[in-house]
Amino acid sequence: MKLITVKNYDEMSQKASSFILDLIQSKENPVLGLATGSTPEGLYRYLIEAYKEGKASFQHVTTFNLDEYVGIERADANSYYSFMQENFFKHVDISPSQTFLPNGKAADLQAECEDYEQLISNASQIDIQVLGLGLNGHIGFNEPGTPFSIRTHVVDLEESTREANSRFFESIDEVPTQAITMGIGTIMESKMILLLVSGEQKAEALVRLFTNEVSEEFPASILQNHPNVVIIADEAASKHL
Ligand code: GLP
Repeated sequence: MKLITVKNYDEMSQKASSFILDLIQSKENPVLGLATGSTPEGLYRYLIEAYKEGKASFQHVTTFNLDEYVGIERADANSYYSFMQENFFKHVDISPSQTFLPNGKAADLQAECEDYEQLISNASQIDIQVLGLGLNGHIGFNEPGTPFSIRTHVVDLEESTREANSRFFESIDEVPTQAITMGIGTIMESKMILLLVSGEQKAEALVRLFTNEVSEEFPASILQNHPNVVIIADEAASKHL
């Protein structure tokens, strides 16, 4: 794992955007794995800026998001579908038919997970998978204890994860109890992983990422086994390293 330490959130976002822009400028049909949460918002702002300045086009880009809540409509402001529209897709020239997220309202969730896996394998391979880091080490919504080999699946969210994400909802009762997430097995097949870590509250998780043995109890620890991981962390997040 290669660690790049930067000053703050803005520098982290800009640095991350440079990896994505290099890829889309050099590859004909790039495939991106995308994440939601507060961490990648700045990255998306830089990508939008590059598009508006005429430095990048997303016309030939395909994207797969990591996860989606179960049980909320795509049109709901708290769906990850809406997050992606608002924070990225609607501002650039990406084709709506090339942006994929699991459907958390699918009648048959199991079939939805299988279909999502199929779509990813049809696209061959994710070139860069963007990841954030959960406080408990989760990646996507793969909570501690999730088998490393698992593919896209339905997950019961930990109380601590629901609490951490309740800041986006009116109350914790509105935070869904389940989600569909790309599995760790799926994530690990990406060509490159770009893990973004910002803020003091992530400092402990970042230490564990480097010091923990590879263990399902700390899902992100599996990244130690991936051949091409770049971690971009700001000073606050890396203060205990
Ligand atoms: C959320 C998402 C993850 C995200 C993580 C960190 O629950 N499912 O994909 O990376 O938790 O979120 P944040 O960036 O808001 O700290």
